[in-house]
Amino acid sequence: MKSKISFIAVAIIAASTVWLFSPAISPTAVPEYTLASDEETLERGRYLVNAGGCISCHEGEAGGLSGGMAIESPFGIFYASNITPDATTGTGTWNASDYVRAIKHGRRPEGGFYYPAFPYRSYAAVTDDDALAIASWLHAQPAVMNDVASHAIPGWIGRWQLAPWNKLASLSEPEHAPFNDPQLERGAYLARNLGHCGECHTPRNLMGISDHANEFAGGDMPDGHVPAINAAALSSWSEDDLALFLFLGLLPDGEYVGGKMEPVIEHNTGQLSDEDRQAMAAFFKRGL
Ligand code: HEC
Ligand code: HEC
Repeated sequence: MKSKISFIAVAIIAASTVWLFSPAISPTAVPEYTLASDEETLERGRYLVNAGGCISCHEGEAGGLSGGMAIESPFGIFYASNITPDATTGTGTWNASDYVRAIKHGRRPEGGFYYPAFPYRSYAAVTDDDALAIASWLHAQPAVMNDVASHAIPGWIGRWQLAPWNKLASLSEPEHAPFNDPQLERGAYLARNLGHCGECHTPRNLMGISDHANEFAGGDMPDGHVPAINAAALSSWSEDDLALFLFLGLLPDGEYVGGKMEPVIEHNTGQLSDEDRQAMAAFFKRGL
């Protein structure tokens, strides 16, 4: 059964590659932006870096967001890049548009795609303004020299497959109608986009594409199952339970959450304003 499934997966990948790879994908057009250096933008950028959970992956032993952390996936081990502005091992030579293209479109300055271990499909709906504030803050941090290891992935996985992969992923992504309630809209933006909760909590198909029809229904990681956080799963949680959980990691039964959720609480949701945590809780309880 297993070999049949993987054969089907390979066949689908091969067919879709031929179908989708031609003609070559043109580089994503992003307006020519400039990096800001005013206090207000930098402070907003710092906050958004927390909301985006960038630290959970990019924090580096060499200091700052200098990368090197191993991110395990069913496709191999990816190492988070050095995103400090070091000219040789980081993003020192980047302009504002390079950052926006990377964060929102998953594109490298030279045009190719990043591996989706970098959760850019979730960040795609982040506003340009927010992406620019993130970029401005990143670029204003001290440069740290740190040459990150190459990804440890099997030879049959290559960047050339990412153009068709991204096309297929786009085809399966629903257009979410905006909420009338600004609190729910803010919560959805923080959960679905910046907080990329679905990257772990939504199941994926054999190609690693998120199954949006089962949003937040629970996922699988190499080190175990990720619980569901959809309306059914959270039915016994109150909105305040969830907001408190996002602040402290405290579960309704009095235990603290562990595993891969710990850094999310520590670096992301635990750093946000009460208002933003309440908005996320409102979205999960009333918006799904
Ligand atoms: C789940 C882990 C993860 C999270 C969260 C994450 N990244 Fe990354 N990021 C990666 C990986 C892995 C790569 C390398 C991808 C590749 O080589 O194709 C990467 C690459 C990048 C790059 C490209 C760097 C270069 O030198 O080419 C930038 C810029 C970046 N990330 C910024 C961010 C920002 C900003 C955030 C938060 C809003 C963020 N990342 C959140 C894992 C992550
Ligand atoms: C890097 C992967 C990852 C991301 C990103 C992530 N989670 Fe989690 N989450 C987990 C894992 C793993 C657990 C289970 C931890 C354990 O029990 O050891 C969990 C547990 C939870 C729980 C507790 C569920 C229960 O019934 O015990 C909630 C609620 C939750 N996450 C909400 C969120 C929200 C909201 C976001 C987005 C802001 C988010 N998670 C982002 C991996 C993740």
